[in-house]
Amino acid sequence: MKRKRILSGMQPSGKLHLGNYFGALKNWVDLQDEFECYFFIADWHALSSLYEGPGRIKDFSFEVAIDWLSAGLDPEKCTMFLQSDIPEHAELHLILSMIVPVPWLERNPTYKEKQDEIKNVDMNSYGFLGYPVLQTADIVLYKADYVPVGIDQAPHLELSREIVRRFNKLYKKVFIEPGAKISDIPKLNGLDGRKMSKTYNNTIFLSDGEKEVGKKVQSMLTDPARARRDDPGNPDVCNLYPFHKIYSPKAMQDEINTDCRTAKIGCGDCKKLLSQTMVEGMRPMMEKRREFLACPDVVKEILHEGTLKARVIAKSTLEQAKQAMKLK
Ligand code: TRP
Ligand code: SF4
Repeated sequence: MKRKRILSGMQPSGKLHLGNYFGALKNWVDLQDEFECYFFIADWHALSSLYEGPGRIKDFSFEVAIDWLSAGLDPEKCTMFLQSDIPEHAELHLILSMIVPVPWLERNPTYKEKQDEIKNVDMNSYGFLGYPVLQTADIVLYKADYVPVGIDQAPHLELSREIVRRFNKLYKKVFIEPGAKISDIPKLNGLDGRKMSKTYNNTIFLSDGEKEVGKKVQSMLTDPARARRDDPGNPDVCNLYPFHKIYSPKAMQDEINTDCRTAKIGCGDCKKLLSQTMVEGMRPMMEKRREFLACPDVVKEILHEGTLKARVIAKSTLEQAKQAMKLK
């Protein structure tokens, strides 16, 4: 039986952190065994917010590729490429833009949210309004069955399905409606208890080494009500405990859960334990990163191979779309 196809992308806006990993990347790594997967670095999308300093995008894209490979995306199992290496994305975007009513885009909640969120760049561009149209082109070029996305991206995907329906109805059934694949995301906040985000400077990066992880864990907010060592704590409200749930063995989790409530363990010792289990958990990633950093040409070759493979599909779908419209 033919495996179902998955496609997803990530904007290169710098080094990835554990929030990105547990929110998306880990899910991708798991999916590559079961599905035919295409993952791409959305460098054209990144222009929508980085257009004032686009020179950074190239370095960011390389960092993302290294993060992906270190985290376990495997070129033997999935296809990885850079969006701008496949110009068919841009051509299909242009074609789709002719059939998408502007009010559909203005209604998109993420459009307004991002505009409110990003204050240091003018986000009133034509390109940013059309962000979901480019995203639709990305997806439908590969006739993806599913798109693994965070819950915040669900409205984009609904819009993609609407665009597909409109195209198929106007011309001919060329595209398929992609389904969302939303993963369970463990609740993990940043070092200070707010959402993990580069803008808050509260992240642990996938590229952090042993020392950095240790230092960052030491700086983490714990149960704010636990002011003194002999105050009992509550793991349910502690910002650190969810990390134990991910990285520490069950027996350790249970022991901390009990001992914290009776003040038998202090936050300092609890942090030391977490540093150890986290560093152990992240060690395979640290080692792979070292290998890939030592041979950047291998990384470029992986993306090049991915482009060759993906582009065959992209070209064929674009051809079908143009024929359906009698442009060819
Ligand atoms: N919008 C996605 C993000 O910000 C990136 C993206 C671009 C994408 N094109 C896509 C995701 C296609 C899934 C499918 O992370
Ligand atoms: Fe949190 Fe651990 Fe301190 Fe309890 S002992 S409050 S779980 S850091």
